[in-house]
Amino acid sequence: MTIQFSTKIFSQADVNNPKQIKASLAMLLAQSSDCLVLAYSKADLDALAATKSKSGILVELDRLLGGSVAHANLVGDLDGQAAATCVIRAEKSWAASGAKVKRVLLVCLGDIAPASARSLNAYSKIARAALKHLSGGSIKNALWFIPSFALGHRADFIAEEVRLTIQYAGDQAYRFGVRQPAMKFKAKDKADTFAHLIFAGNDACAKELKAAVPEGAAMVEGMHLAKDLGNLPPNICTPTYLGKAAQGLSKKTGLKVEVLGRKQIEALGMGSFLSVAKGSDTPPQFIVMRHEGGKAGEAPIVFVGKGITFDTGGISLKPGEAMDEMKYDMCGAASVIGTMYATALMKLKKNVIGVIPTCENMPSGQATRPGDIVKSMSGQTIEVLNTDAEGRLILCDALTYVERFKPKAVIDVATLTGACIIALGHVHSGVFSDDEGLVHSLTKAGHASLDTVWRLPLDAAYHEQLKSNFADVANIGGRPAGSVTAACFLSRFTEKYKWAHLDIAGTAWKSGAAKGSTGRPVPLLVNYLLEQK
Ligand code: BES
Ligand code: MN
Ligand code: ZN
Repeated sequence: MTIQFSTKIFSQADVNNPKQIKASLAMLLAQSSDCLVLAYSKADLDALAATKSKSGILVELDRLLGGSVAHANLVGDLDGQAAATCVIRAEKSWAASGAKVKRVLLVCLGDIAPASARSLNAYSKIARAALKHLSGGSIKNALWFIPSFALGHRADFIAEEVRLTIQYAGDQAYRFGVRQPAMKFKAKDKADTFAHLIFAGNDACAKELKAAVPEGAAMVEGMHLAKDLGNLPPNICTPTYLGKAAQGLSKKTGLKVEVLGRKQIEALGMGSFLSVAKGSDTPPQFIVMRHEGGKAGEAPIVFVGKGITFDTGGISLKPGEAMDEMKYDMCGAASVIGTMYATALMKLKKNVIGVIPTCENMPSGQATRPGDIVKSMSGQTIEVLNTDAEGRLILCDALTYVERFKPKAVIDVATLTGACIIALGHVHSGVFSDDEGLVHSLTKAGHASLDTVWRLPLDAAYHEQLKSNFADVANIGGRPAGSVTAACFLSRFTEKYKWAHLDIAGTAWKSGAAKGSTGRPVPLLVNYLLEQK
């Protein structure tokens, strides 16, 4: 655990009711906290500067803090722009009103009416600006007063904003190599100093907070796990390691985990998956994780994650530049494992299954050659024209395997094509599906977590590019629309259920100085599950 999240309810505290502002603030200030986070609007700031009829959150705060807020304004530290922030440190004079907090962090909502609807995007900027002050200094814990963010108008909006705040705080608190001693590769790796974010609320939002805070906290655990697995070096994070990581979660949470080895994979007839594993000395694994939170017999939601622990390209060898980043080619698997972990922590009342085909894609004397024809579990034969298009070869057999679950929906997650980065950059993940409902749900879940997707086509016309003269299908469709033909290839194995494919090649990790796993699309998938009724 690197960061904790909890809730504290101050029944009557309400800063949107002018009569209660002062008493509410006095109650919050009396907490022994390293930092009280309060939001104000431009109108609150104007009121502070006014000479007559002064009221509002800043005015009352100033009265309780012996003039500290007006002083901050006088020296130019307060601003009426959205996401402007100011930290006011405790002074001796604060004690007069019983204030015990060590700091007050003020963050501006901008020029809005207190209860007006605000986009999640606008809120995210405000939350991020405030969160920045909490990390890396002497603040260990903070009290985030939800009603000051004027969230009282829509229950689902409170939940979304709280979960997003937790998601960002979790993201900010993440450090590689601090959660498990075995991952410590750098002597100076240390956990963030900021360790506990407490959401303060009142009776009006208590119910939402009590649900959303544990949901957000579980999502962060899942995201951190996905990041760790992604960032681990490929000599450690092997298919066997992923299997053990999944099994470890079973002991921790009650997830049911099964890990199949080469013999069992052979017995299932997964000739396509095995053709990718052939060049590697590391054995392939097929991981099945089940969360049985729903009724017995209820159709499960199934996630399938691409788990190539290193993608050299195989005999169709990749160029050397940035090849180290192909350790991230198991980020689909990592996000499925992370989502299953979060699902179990939330004790979600649904049946959810995570399936992961995992192996390395290596060149060797045993490796599959361009031109080889392999037989998939579905019976379709595949001409392997490029051994670097291996993700689809391992996924197609997993997609056939999951038919047995009679799923409600299947979503596969894969760092599948470089072409998806060309199409969508590092902003949206690509979503491909013929099911309008599924596309809608995923798009909505993406908006709710700001872990967004953008739909790309899957028309029959693109299937033409996958024709082979020698087998049922070719594994590549040429350069045009490379992400679409990859998705079309997968679609040939998904006819028995509702299916969507997420291409996360551009969103799963960052390159350059900030190189590291993003944990995406765990927030998207967790929000998707939460939105399923
Ligand atoms: N794992 C790669 C896709 C990838 C490349 C993701 C770079 C992120 C960054 C995948 O296995 C692959 O190599 N795809 C090929 C497909 C091509 C041979 C049809 C690609 O995208 O070049
Ligand atoms: Mn590849
Ligand atoms: Zn790959």
